[in-house]
Amino acid sequence: MRKAVCPGSFDPVTNGHIDIVARASLLFDEVVVAVGVNKSKSRARLFTAEERMEMLEKSTSQFPNVTVAGFEGLLTTFCEQHGIRAIVKGLRAVSDFDYELQMAQMNSSLMNIETVFIPTSPEYSFLASSLVKEVATFGGDVSSLVPDHVLSRLTQRLAERAAEAEEEGEGQ
Ligand code: PNS
Repeated sequence: MRKAVCPGSFDPVTNGHIDIVARASLLFDEVVVAVGVNKSKSRARLFTAEERMEMLEKSTSQFPNVTVAGFEGLLTTFCEQHGIRAIVKGLRAVSDFDYELQMAQMNSSLMNIETVFIPTSPEYSFLASSLVKEVATFGGDVSSLVPDHVLSRLTQRLAERAAEAEEEGEGQ
């Protein structure tokens, strides 16, 4: 059984992530999409780990060999615990490569694990969760970049955040 992990923050999942997971699901018998639960970064996230996992579960439900899990701490510890020997990462551009290579080499120094890079499909090469959030915050149309259910949650969460910011501003 060839198992792989697709790790990430997924705040929120985009169509680019789904493309990589879909292609990984054709290469491996089982793919675990692993959501990093970094407590120190939780305030910086737009969505909680549970929300990010829910959105991923809905977005990958059409792939029978894909599951979603959360992990805390080192990715290699998660891989050891789940009998995983391959990490799948999408590469958008050369700018991704330096950091991804460094992480791949660090991970393989920690355990016997390979990182498999899948080139992002050209239509998603500019796509990042951070940009989706920024564009959506200023009213830009991101409907072609995320699944519909993610778009609804994103729109709702940004409206909540805007209302909170307004309330805070009024309180000062
Ligand atoms: O979507 P991101 O933010 O690029 O995902 C980064 C992630 C979660 C895959 C990476 O930060 C990670 O693997 N974190 C777990 C901690 C760890 O193992 N760090 C050492 C990496 S060499």
